[in-house]
Amino acid sequence: MQKDVFVIAHVSDLHASTFGDTFHDGARMIRRSAKPRPVDPKKYEVVWEEAGWRVFHQRGKKASAIILIDPEDYEHAIPTARKSGGVEDPVERAAKKACRVEARTARTLSKGLPSKGALEYLAESTPNNANLRLIRAARAIDPAAVDAVFITGDLTDDGDGYELVREAFRPWLERGTLFAVPGNHDLYLFPLFGSSRPRPTFETKRAGFRAFAAELGLVLEPSGLWHRYLPEPNIYLVGLDSCARTQPRFFRHNGGVGEAQLLALQEIAKRPEWTAARHRIVGLHHHVVPLPHGVGRRAPSEIGMRLDDAPRVAKVMDELRVDLVLHGHRHVSEERQPAGTRFRILASPSLTLGCRSGDGPSYWRISVSQHIRVERTYLSFAPIEDADDAVTPEIA
Ligand SMILES: [Fe+2]
Ligand SMILES: [Fe+2]
Repeated sequence: MQKDVFVIAHVSDLHASTFGDTFHDGARMIRRSAKPRPVDPKKYEVVWEEAGWRVFHQRGKKASAIILIDPEDYEHAIPTARKSGGVEDPVERAAKKACRVEARTARTLSKGLPSKGALEYLAESTPNNANLRLIRAARAIDPAAVDAVFITGDLTDDGDGYELVREAFRPWLERGTLFAVPGNHDLYLFPLFGSSRPRPTFETKRAGFRAFAAELGLVLEPSGLWHRYLPEPNIYLVGLDSCARTQPRFFRHNGGVGEAQLLALQEIAKRPEWTAARHRIVGLHHHVVPLPHGVGRRAPSEIGMRLDDAPRVAKVMDELRVDLVLHGHRHVSEERQPAGTRFRILASPSLTLGCRSGDGPSYWRISVSQHIRVERTYLSFAPIEDADDAVTPEIA
């Protein structure tokens, strides 16, 4: 028997990270050494320790000769007295920073999600923190009213933080209705290094997404796509990897679906379930058509951002009678049906950072029955401060 209405939350661009810092908020990036910092116990003594963080003092030197080392042995800068609100003692400053950073790591948060009050307390001093925003955003989606969640890429900011994504969306993970495709932040590299350590490579990033997809029960085909027929709502879902080809250049994040995935999609479309499905829904990260940031605004530059084979992808999806295309990437919320296509497109903004229009975070609530009905659903918090600042104007 078919359920009357099956509800999918289309969310995107979570940008979870090791510490909750993001390239979009580059001024607040957590800086740490590129390599582990060896500490010679003959020269240094431990003066403070908690949760694997250590403050060392150099033996025989003045009190300020200290270093802060994290649980993975990387060194962190110690804030000045002015930056830490007038705390004079350097050890106290280092310890305070360690506690502040540790409490917001994806690893620590995922071990036991904080209560509503604790989350508010943590967010008060770091309102831009993407990890905290992710927990808050996921909690705004009611598992009793939403049957499935589809994340269209940039789950992480730099390939780290999947454990938090998993915990934030656990109700759907347990039902087997959490779906995801990778984004450029999950698979490509950046010329400016973030705080992920060891520094990610193409191989570690791809392995990270593959492991996450496996946890979700998604079977990635050799071409990179996955597909799932859901009998009860009678819909067919396909996830495409829009970073299937190698990164064009280090500083460019153009996507490409590629012929291998399109061929695989054409094979899937020969299945009787595909033809009989009430709706065929395809998710990918990159946008199919350029997106302005709002009424009266021009679409921003496509340099380093676009889906290079968009016309070909659109043609194949149209031929195969795809009904709905879900994507993220530009951090813009929009619904449209482009000229010349029969499919509709839903662009989802960042669920954590917000929409480039200036709107706060939102997601698309897709009600699937005989017809598909969509509603933009706003969360109750603001976009990150300085989201459009000059530091990283074209990162998505
Ligand atoms: Fe992106
Ligand atoms: Fe993004």
